[in-house]
Amino acid sequence: MPVRAFHFLFLAALPAFALVYTALGAPPAAAQELPSSRVFVPAPPKGKGDKCIADKDFMRRNHMKILEHQRDQTVYDGVRIKRTSLKECVACHVVNGPDALPLTSESPKYFCRVCHDYAAVKVDCFECHVSRPPVAKAAGLPAGEKERDALASFLKEGRQ
Ligand code: HEC
Ligand code: HEC
Ligand code: HEC
Repeated sequence: MPVRAFHFLFLAALPAFALVYTALGAPPAAAQELPSSRVFVPAPPKGKGDKCIADKDFMRRNHMKILEHQRDQTVYDGVRIKRTSLKECVACHVVNGPDALPLTSESPKYFCRVCHDYAAVKVDCFECHVSRPPVAKAAGLPAGEKERDALASFLKEGRQ
């Protein structure tokens, strides 16, 4: 099946997840009426842009399913969907440290960790995946020779 068809199927499945969630998992009305200030929820730093790839509440509850779904498609079927890739999460959810450079998942202030530390969730994702966008792009620093060459040929290809 072509990648676009997968993409379509995946996007089409998102509202279905939401419906299933609402039907099975939504808290009873009474719980929803509690003033939100009484329910402690960690406040992770806001991502870039005005919205996530899906509704914020949906993301809170389902981001792990989205990531697992995407990983299975990539690893087992060789399908790569840019919009839901972990690289994209990391790029939009970059948090800068005091030196204005993006923090890595080593920092407790790292986007994913603000919640995970609170909820005592541990993920091993960043043992293999890089946890921040490429430095040259993120910070506009003078890159090393190799990186400059790669950047130059990338820009050249982009113009063709
Ligand atoms: C285009 C930029 C962008 C991308 C790509 C993106 N996000 Fe987001 N994300 C945001 C923004 C902006 C918000 C805050 C939305 C709001 O306040 O309504 C957000 C919110 C969230 C939240 C809820 C945070 C909270 O405050 O409760 C989670 C969880 C999340 N994103 C995870 C992910 C994951 C996982 C991925 C990759 C699959 C991803 N995001 C990709 C921009 C992005
Ligand atoms: C042992 C190393 C390893 C660990 C740990 C790991 N991954 Fe991956 N992951 C890979 C490799 C290798 C690929 C395939 C990369 C490719 O072909 O693009 C991949 C692909 C993915 C993809 C699809 C490609 C992309 O960029 O979106 C996602 C999503 C993903 N992994 C999420 C996760 C998440 C979430 C975790 C943690 C729960 C995790 N991975 C842990 C090695 C790892
Ligand atoms: C709004 C808070 C919040 C943010 C932000 C957040 N997570 Fe989570 N995440 C959770 C919670 C809570 C769980 C545990 C859910 C459960 O156990 O049902 C979880 C679970 C996961 C799991 C499944 C772990 C397991 O052992 O089953 C993965 C994978 C994951 N998150 C990846 C990420 C990544 C990658 C990011 C950053 C891009 C991220 N999360 C950001 C709250 C968050």
